[in-house]
Amino acid sequence: MCGIVGYVGKSEAMPIVLEALSRLEYRGYDSAGVAINNGRGIQVSRRVGKLKVLAEALRRKPLKGATGIGHTRWATHGEPTEFNAHPHSDCSGKLVLVHNGIIENYAELKERLINAGHRFRSKTDTEVVAHLVEEYAKRHPIEQAFRLALKDLRGSYALCLLSQDAPGKIFGARNGSPLLIGLGKGESLFGSDATAIMERTRKVLYLNDLEVVELTQQGAKVTTLSGKAVTRKPTTVNWNIASARKGGYPHYMLKEIHEQPDAVRQTIVGRLTADPLRLVFDKRTARFLKTLDPRTRFVILGCGTAYHAGLVGEYMLEEFAKLPVVVDLASEFRYRGPMLDKHTTVLAITQSGETADTLAGIRMAKAQGAKVLAICNVMGSSIAREADAVLYTHAGPEIAVASTKAYTCQVTTLALLTLFLAKARRGISPAQWRKLAEGLLQLPETLEKTLQQEAHIKTIAAKYMRVRDFYYLGRRYNYPSALEGALKLKEICPLIHAEGYAAGEMKHGPISLIRRGWPVMFVATDSPVYEKVLSNLEEVRARKGSCIVVASEGDQQARRHADHLITVPKTDEFLSPIVAAIPLQLFAYYMADANGCDIDQPPNLAKSVTVE
Ligand code: F6R
Repeated sequence: MCGIVGYVGKSEAMPIVLEALSRLEYRGYDSAGVAINNGRGIQVSRRVGKLKVLAEALRRKPLKGATGIGHTRWATHGEPTEFNAHPHSDCSGKLVLVHNGIIENYAELKERLINAGHRFRSKTDTEVVAHLVEEYAKRHPIEQAFRLALKDLRGSYALCLLSQDAPGKIFGARNGSPLLIGLGKGESLFGSDATAIMERTRKVLYLNDLEVVELTQQGAKVTTLSGKAVTRKPTTVNWNIASARKGGYPHYMLKEIHEQPDAVRQTIVGRLTADPLRLVFDKRTARFLKTLDPRTRFVILGCGTAYHAGLVGEYMLEEFAKLPVVVDLASEFRYRGPMLDKHTTVLAITQSGETADTLAGIRMAKAQGAKVLAICNVMGSSIAREADAVLYTHAGPEIAVASTKAYTCQVTTLALLTLFLAKARRGISPAQWRKLAEGLLQLPETLEKTLQQEAHIKTIAAKYMRVRDFYYLGRRYNYPSALEGALKLKEICPLIHAEGYAAGEMKHGPISLIRRGWPVMFVATDSPVYEKVLSNLEEVRARKGSCIVVASEGDQQARRHADHLITVPKTDEFLSPIVAAIPLQLFAYYMADANGCDIDQPPNLAKSVTVE
């Protein structure tokens, strides 16, 4: 997730582009850059760090011109360095562009372009697009070259392109990543969302996937990728800036819950492909995994939500990759005196990549000779730098303190890792592998469908809003779901005490509290232990507890047993924790909302825990 902007008009572009970027900084902030076309040439300025570093550089050395583009980055391919910061240029510097998204086939395109004599300066997927347009522009006018280049791309993109020879124009296109147009008086803008353009105009033209735009100060010429003219009326945006930044949602948490289908898609894209059905990792990670000692054991480390993701990973890796796995709270691991050696692989899971306990855990593991793989959301973070290999989640920046999309992307990444190792270690049959991989490819749509339960979940939350204690129960893959559901509720609704348990543990203590009306959230989706979960449900009902049940679509038995039923699409049990996370997040959200809690910044909590 990055933010991109463009401006073409009569005014100086640089301050307008910077102002628009400042509105998009929530989308990424590890580096930023602008490019301005003044007709004589395109000047580029890029800096590592937050936008203010770039703004300071531009204050000292301003760029002049009335056509410009800008970018604020959340690194996905290549570390956050100046070379990898956008905008990126072709060999001549006459074509300069910014990009948000992931070009899946960049490696093969890059090879093709290097063979054709192009020189690359960055490690990004984006730079290939600039060179690809340059290649086509040798034989075609720029508009057509841009269109031909787009046809070669696989993956997701929102792009803004400057051509030195077209000073009053910006070319844009989108496929799978957001891009819209702002139509002002004698000026036009591009933005990743409406916040970017709202200072200048409220007249917005939304773009659909595979549409191409030629933007001038007079307005926008929109066409399909094949060149057919598109006519669409602009809409007027009435939001204030704060709510626009949240995409119209009242809280970042709700926005991030809704971003999950896309975040999970971005995490899968470029790794697992449908046709042919194939799973590839970046070279460094693939080499790391292929050279693992066949007798290695995994020690998964994480804190809070990341630890819960690790618990799901334990089920996945043991069942399908046939690997011995233990999961540890990073804060305990470092003081436990664990037995580690070169046959141990430590898998650190972290959104921020800066959590003090997890970082200390991997340092200790490395000092004892263990290998370290990280699942991390922030490129260039301490853990990403210190690990031997990294599988990045592509969730984009998570702003709400309570983790939602980072969690589902962590579990998605664990599913990808499991498939990779299951194949390498021949842990499952090719038919079973195919079935799991196909389910994973379907996951974004499955999550979209799951989100349709939102209004129903809100109604249930309204019924329970005054309750002050909650149990969450699940088994096997959804035991961690129970822990995560309870954590979400107590985290953002601190008036409520919530506990998650493995459902089989009920009889060993927690059941003593069950009495009339005591609420229990069950995760009872399809699984080999489904009947056992229902037995636990009966035990709660026998004591007059109140059961909310998350079950698979079409489950009549759960309907008969539940006081309130939330259904989710059927999936393989392997993926069910990702699907089940959504109703649990929404339930916590609406409980907190009904109780007037500070949802995005709950008391006593911080987004990144960099102290012990
Ligand atoms: C819960 C939450 C925390 C984090 C934990 C680890 O919603 O956000 O429990 O999961 O502090 O943080 P990272 O993943 O950044 O290491």
